[in-house]
Amino acid sequence: MSDAKQTPEDDTSERLRAELEAFEAALPAAADEAGLYELQVRFLGKKGSVTALRKRMGKVPPEQRKALGKAFNEVKQAIEGGLERRRVELESQARERELSRRVDLGFVPERARAGAVHPITATRRALEVIFRRMGFDVLDGPHVEVEDYNFDRLNFEPEHPARDMQDTFFVDPPAGAAASGAGAAAWDPAKSFVLRTHTSPVQVRTMLSHRPPIRIVAPGTVFRRDDDPTHSPMFNQIEGLYVDRGVTMADLKATLYGFVRAFFGPGLMVRLRPSFFPFVEPGAEFDMQCPFCRAPGEGEQPNAGCGLCKHTGWIELGGSGMVHPAVFERCGLDPEVYTGWAFGFGIDRMAMLRYGVPNLKHFFEGDLRVLEQFPC
Ligand code: PHE
Repeated sequence: MSDAKQTPEDDTSERLRAELEAFEAALPAAADEAGLYELQVRFLGKKGSVTALRKRMGKVPPEQRKALGKAFNEVKQAIEGGLERRRVELESQARERELSRRVDLGFVPERARAGAVHPITATRRALEVIFRRMGFDVLDGPHVEVEDYNFDRLNFEPEHPARDMQDTFFVDPPAGAAASGAGAAAWDPAKSFVLRTHTSPVQVRTMLSHRPPIRIVAPGTVFRRDDDPTHSPMFNQIEGLYVDRGVTMADLKATLYGFVRAFFGPGLMVRLRPSFFPFVEPGAEFDMQCPFCRAPGEGEQPNAGCGLCKHTGWIELGGSGMVHPAVFERCGLDPEVYTGWAFGFGIDRMAMLRYGVPNLKHFFEGDLRVLEQFPC
């Protein structure tokens, strides 16, 4: 048999039938609305295979057109009908699945594990609230600081041991930022970087950018090359600065006293002991009466104390003092006009005292068995 006599009508209707068969073969695999839509596009869409065949209608002799038009409509309806049938089928399957789902009303779902604020963060926030109430603004500064702000403007001599590699993390400048020029580039503290060793550079930044009265606290992370049970290379400080006309050391002591009272409760004394920091004169360490044994302080004999205050009755908190005139000058303030004081102490230390945690490292190791004990 030769198909030489096959007319365009025969050919087209055969191909229509083939398309319908292809559709029916593909239909059971359509498992959702997207699958059905895909089939519709493939056969009946603008570029669909059946649509393409319909475009051949113009090529068949007019007397055959009617029959072919009918065949085309039948195939189109069969496809549309098939799609609809499958849609109903899928819907009823879904409904059945839904109905047969068994709900176990006795099932107790696992509770989502609630996170908690880290004890250091909770302590920092508590300190911020206390100082805000006393009228201080809370400011932040960069961890990678220029040496100039971390040391020079705070009156550290060029040979001060804190500037030693043993004490400080020096940071290489970004590639390309190094000074270029003939021979060895001159060392420039404004272009050399360190991980800040204290939060004091925030004081420098504030004095350079604000006119007094200045009343700020700067809490934040600082870095030193220390590592033992009570020292970590990364720890947190909070530093206070008050600058105005006529500020005195009595204001400092009253502020520290007010802070200790707000944080640890009433009845604890504060004392200042002479000490040296390059950026204050006079400088003092400040201690508070031990909040655990509340043993009588200085001058009263004998003082049993407790382990935490090493039987002295006092706990060292931090450093403080009147801002050195050289610091004012280097920060653009006239020391003949303004006076001020600063203090700084460890937030981690406060957290240890607040929660009775003996080892600083417990806070930083990220061990949930430890941290879960502080549901803040
Ligand atoms: N910046 C000092 C330190 O980190 C603490 C301090 C702050 C001392 C302010 C005096 C005045 O050790």
